[in-house]
Amino acid sequence: MANVTFSSPVMAKDVTVYAVAGDTKTLLALAKKHEIPIPCQCQDGECGSCLIKVTVLGDNPPLATHLTDKEKLTLSVNGKLSKAVLDKAETKDSPPQYRLACQYIVRDEDILVEFSGEPGVE
Ligand code: FES
Repeated sequence: MANVTFSSPVMAKDVTVYAVAGDTKTLLALAKKHEIPIPCQCQDGECGSCLIKVTVLGDNPPLATHLTDKEKLTLSVNGKLSKAVLDKAETKDSPPQYRLACQYIVRDEDILVEFSGEPGVE
């Protein structure tokens, strides 16, 4: 069980929802289920509109560091993923700050998800 807290200026207040352990849904699917208004256009890792900032909470090492190839490309093209940050993510399990909600698989860890409400804007 993981707590996922969504925070955005377009929401009246932060919303914390529970993600079920073993569920392999994307963060975007979880957000939609709870009517969290993360912008999304392609829902396939190509447009960058679902840009989010993820902060892992608690003292445990981060789990959700895997980035899909589409996510790597889209974040890189949009200037949100440098080569150095990607190298660190892949070699040291240090998760990048910016992710795509439609590519991020929710794991059993508590996270804070921040988004602006504007497509592709942090
Ligand atoms: Fe297009 Fe996520 S909705 S990249």
